[in-house]
Amino acid sequence: MHDIVIQVLGVAGLLALVSFLPPLAARFQMPYTVLLAGVGVALGAVIQTFAGPGKDPLHDFLNSLAELDVSSDVLLHVFLPILLFETALAVDVRRLFEDLGPILLMAVVAVFVCTFAVGYAVNLFTPLPLVACLLLGAIVASTDPAAVIGIFRDLGAPRRLTTLVEGESLLNDAAAIALFTLLLEMLTRTSHGGAAAAAVDFLRDFSGGVVTGYVCGRIVCMLVEPVRNQPMAEITLTVALAYLSYVLADHYVGASGVVATVTSALVIGSVGRTRISPATWGAMEHVWQQLGFWANSMIFLLTAILVPRLLADAGWAEVGLVVVVVLAAFAARAVVLFGLLPVLSWAGLAQKVSNSYKSVMLWGGMRGAVSLTLALAVTENFRVPDKLQSFIAVMVTGFVFVTLFVNGTTLRWLIRLLKLDELTPVERAMRNRALALSTDSIRDRVSAVAQTYEVDGAVKDVMIARYEERLKKIDRDSQEEAKLTDEDRVTIGLVILVNREEELYYAHFSEGVVSRAVMEMLAGRSGRLLDAVKSQGRNGYRAFEEPFIAFSPWMRTASWLQRRFGIHSPLARRLSMRFEVLVAVRTVLRELLAFTRDRLARVLGQEVAFELEGMLVGRLGIVEQALAALKLQYPDYAVVLQSRYVGRAALRLEHAEYRAMHAESIISQEVLTDLERDLEQRRRVLERLPKLDVRFDVAELVRRVPLFAELPAERVATIATLLRAQLALPGETIVRKGERGDAMFFIASGAVEVLVPMLAEPVKLGTGDFFGEMALLSRQRRNADVRALGYCQLLVLDEKDFRRLVQKDADLQSHIQAVAEARRQPTQSSPAVPAVS
Ligand code: CMP
Repeated sequence: MHDIVIQVLGVAGLLALVSFLPPLAARFQMPYTVLLAGVGVALGAVIQTFAGPGKDPLHDFLNSLAELDVSSDVLLHVFLPILLFETALAVDVRRLFEDLGPILLMAVVAVFVCTFAVGYAVNLFTPLPLVACLLLGAIVASTDPAAVIGIFRDLGAPRRLTTLVEGESLLNDAAAIALFTLLLEMLTRTSHGGAAAAAVDFLRDFSGGVVTGYVCGRIVCMLVEPVRNQPMAEITLTVALAYLSYVLADHYVGASGVVATVTSALVIGSVGRTRISPATWGAMEHVWQQLGFWANSMIFLLTAILVPRLLADAGWAEVGLVVVVVLAAFAARAVVLFGLLPVLSWAGLAQKVSNSYKSVMLWGGMRGAVSLTLALAVTENFRVPDKLQSFIAVMVTGFVFVTLFVNGTTLRWLIRLLKLDELTPVERAMRNRALALSTDSIRDRVSAVAQTYEVDGAVKDVMIARYEERLKKIDRDSQEEAKLTDEDRVTIGLVILVNREEELYYAHFSEGVVSRAVMEMLAGRSGRLLDAVKSQGRNGYRAFEEPFIAFSPWMRTASWLQRRFGIHSPLARRLSMRFEVLVAVRTVLRELLAFTRDRLARVLGQEVAFELEGMLVGRLGIVEQALAALKLQYPDYAVVLQSRYVGRAALRLEHAEYRAMHAESIISQEVLTDLERDLEQRRRVLERLPKLDVRFDVAELVRRVPLFAELPAERVATIATLLRAQLALPGETIVRKGERGDAMFFIASGAVEVLVPMLAEPVKLGTGDFFGEMALLSRQRRNADVRALGYCQLLVLDEKDFRRLVQKDADLQSHIQAVAEARRQPTQSSPAVPAVS
C-alpha cells in the first residue's frame, strides 16, 4: 500500500515538473523536447547523487523515481499508442495524400536505408553480429517530429514542409517498429528464415496492421452514430480505439499494432471528422493534445532519467561509435533526400521538393520518444545478451541526444538562413488583408461594446483612434506591395472566399440543416477548388464545375433503371442529394455575395470585389438554373424535398427552444428527455426518403402540344392512351442518325437540337414541336442526331400507334407530312409548325 503511494508521488511529482517546462521552453526559444531531455538527464544525475535514506517528501520523490518500475512494456503498450494516435489525428490526410510519393519514400525506403547504413557501419567497427547492428539501425531510424514541428510553428515555416515532416515521421514510426520487431525476433530466435522470409513477414505485419486499423476505425465511425452529441462518449470511443486497434492487431491478428493505431487515427481524422459531432471535435482535439503531451513527456523523462546511469560506464570507444552512428544515419538520410527523391520526382511519382526543404528535412531528422522506448525494450529483453543490451542503450541514447542537442538547437538558425520563415509577397499581402479585415471588424465591435457598457465617449474615441491608426499603417504597408497585380488581388480574394465557403458548409452542417453526406462532398470539393485557385487563379475558379451540374454516369444509370424497370430508390436517393447540394450551394453563394459586398470590398477594394461578385453571380446562375430544371422535371418530388429541408430546420429550432426552456428551469430534465425522444422519432421519419413519383399526367402534357391543343377533350383522351411520357436529361441523345426509327416524339416541355448534317448550325426545336417523324413516314433510317438541350418532357408515339393514329386522322397526317416535307429542304432550317385545322 505504502509502495503505491510513493509511486503516485513519483508520477505526480514528474507531472508537476513537466508543467513548468512548456513556458520555460517558450521563454528560451528552445524546442520543448530538447528541454525535456535536458531536464530528464539532470534529474537522473540528481537521483544518482541524492537518492538514499531520508523520510522527507523530496527524498521519497527521488527514491520513488530511482525505483520506479516503468518497464518498456508500459511505454510501448500504454504511452506509445496514445502518442502515435495523437500525431496521426493532427495530420491533414488530404495533404498527406497529395505528397504521398515523397512521404512514403522517406517513411519506408529511408527507414530501410538508415537501418542498413547504420547496421553495416557499426558492424565494421565492432565484433557484434550483423542482425544486432541492424537492430540498432532500425531503432534509430524513426524520426520524431515533436521538436521539429514546434520550431516550424514558432517560425511559421511553410505548410507543405510541415506536412512532409509530419507525414514522414508518422509512417516511419510504424515502419521502423515493424522492422524492429522482426529483427528482435530474428536475434532472439535460434533459427530463422532468410532475408526473403523476413521481407514477407514485414509486409504481412504492415498490411495486416493497415487492414486492422482501417476496419477498427470504420467500426468506430459507425458506433459514433448512436452516441452523437455526447462529447464524453464520443471522445472515450476514440481513446478506446487507439488501444483496441493496437491490441487487436498486435495480439490477435499477429500484425503490427503501431501501424493499426496510426491507420485508425487517420480514418478518424478523415472520415470520422464528419461523423463526430462538430461541437465534440474541438473538445476531442484538446483531450488528445493533452494525452499526447503527457505521453511524450513521460516517455522522455522516464527514459532520460536512466541516461546518467547508462552513460556512467561509457568510454571513448562508445563516443567514437556514437559518431559513427550519427554519420551513417545522416549520410543515409542525405542519400535518400538528395539521391532518390529527385529520381522519384523525375519519374513523375512525386511533386518536386526544393533543395532548401530537403536541407531542413535532413537536419531536422531528430530522434526521440520512439527510439528511446525501443532501446528500453531491448534492455529488458532477457533473451538479449547483457552486453548487447547496454551497448544498444548507450548508442541510442547517445544518438538521440546528439540529434536533440546539436540539430535541435541549430535547426531554427538553418531555417532562418534558408529564409524559409519569410512570407512570399502574396502571403505577406494576404497577411495584411487578414489583418485589415479583423482590425476593421474589431473597430466596429469596440464601438458596440462601448455603447453597451456606456463607456465614456472620450475613452471610446481613443480606442477607436488606435484601431484607425493600425488600419492606416496596414494601408501604408499595402501601398508598398505595389508589385501585387490585380490578378494577385483577385487570387487573394478567391482564396478567402473558398475558405469561407468551406466554413459556411460546416456551419450549416452543425446547425443540422445540411446532412453529413452532402457536407462531406462539398467540403472535399472546397479543398480541390482551393488548389485550383492557388495554381491557376481566377481561371481555376471559373473552370471548376458546380457539383452535380453535369450528370454523372450514376445519375444516368439511376434514371434509366427508373424508366425501364420502374426501380425508384437509386434515382430518388440521387435526386434528393442533388437537391440538397444545390440548395446548400445556393444559400452559401448568397451568403458569400453579402460577405464580398460588406467585408471584402472594404479591404480588397471595390474593383476586385466587383470581379469576385461577378464570378459568384455566375455560379449562382448555374445553380439556380439547375434547381429550376429539377423542379420542372420532378415537380411533386421537389415539393417533398423542400418540405424535408424546412422540416429539418424546424426540428433544430424546436430542439433549441426545449433546451432554452430547460436552462431556464421551465421544464425538468425528464420532460426534456421525453421531448428529445419525440424529436428524434420525428427526425427519423423526416429522413426517410419519400417514394419517387415520376408518373406524368399524360393528358396534361398532351394539352401542351399545340398540334393537339385544339382537339376535343375525348380525342385528347384517346391520343393520351397511345402516348408514353419520357424524360430526357440535358445532353442526352434521344435519336441517333442512321438508327432504325420506331417512334416519334412530341416535346411537352424543354428544348432539343437537331444536328442536320447539311446545316452548319443545329436546328433548335422547343415545346410543342415534334421530331422523329421522318423515319416513320419514309420508312428509312433516322437522318439526324437529336439531342436534349435541357430537361425535356417528351411524349413518345410508337410506330404502330403512329400508323393507327394517322390512318384515322387525315388532318394530322397531312400536317405531319407537310412539316417533314419542309424539313427535307436543306436550306429550310427551322420550319414553322402550321396549326391543324
Ligand atoms: P428522323 O429522320 O426520324 O430522325 C431525325 C429527326 O430530326 C428527323 O426525323 C426530323 O424529325 C428531325 N429533322 C431532320 N432534319 C430537320 C430539319 N432540317 N429541321 C428540323 N428537324 C429536322
